[in-house]
Amino acid sequence: MDAEHVKDDLANILFTEAQIQERLAEMASEIEADYEGKDLLIVGVLRGATWVIADLTRSINRHVEIDWMAVSSYGSGTKSSGVVRILKDLDTDLHGRHVLIVDEIIDTGLTLSWLVANLSSRSPESIQVATLLRKPEAQSMPVEVKYVGWDIPNEFVVGYGLDYRERYRNLRDIGTLAPHVYS
Ligand code: PRP
Repeated sequence: MDAEHVKDDLANILFTEAQIQERLAEMASEIEADYEGKDLLIVGVLRGATWVIADLTRSINRHVEIDWMAVSSYGSGTKSSGVVRILKDLDTDLHGRHVLIVDEIIDTGLTLSWLVANLSSRSPESIQVATLLRKPEAQSMPVEVKYVGWDIPNEFVVGYGLDYRERYRNLRDIGTLAPHVYS
């Protein structure tokens, strides 16, 4: 969906489709270099990371494996409930694997800090995190992140996988949701 279709719902556009693709290509080059000669397993965090995984992995010019996990840390609103539970686990045994967890946003850090701890207990050879967006002001749980697209202010963002009540995920760009939409 193009932003013009929801322009009244957006306070502004933070990153355009072209900017997102450019940044993901840069991150892909870094990942390619860092994992040279190693088997890489990319773990996507459903559902929001689907778009990042699709575009990031297609910019990586080498073989990678991809598996998916679904966890729930939010209710249907904008506030974290503070609880993480597994909705869908990996199909892959992580023992001895080089694992890169990929998500589209680190907000409070709850999801990723919990995931890193959970997957680390499965004896991977290495484990790293990549995220397209990070909100440093909102983060309350520490997460060591190797690859970050952009740090952003603590605003409600939608698009490119990020939803508000399951809408806007298919927006091409990333924008700030206008307060009238959620207040
Ligand atoms: C979003 C996002 C991250 C998490 C970040 O997922 O994809 O996984 O929230 O927030 P946190 O740092 O405060 O934990 P969400 O639970 O909304 O599910 P979704 O990917 O299906 O939208």
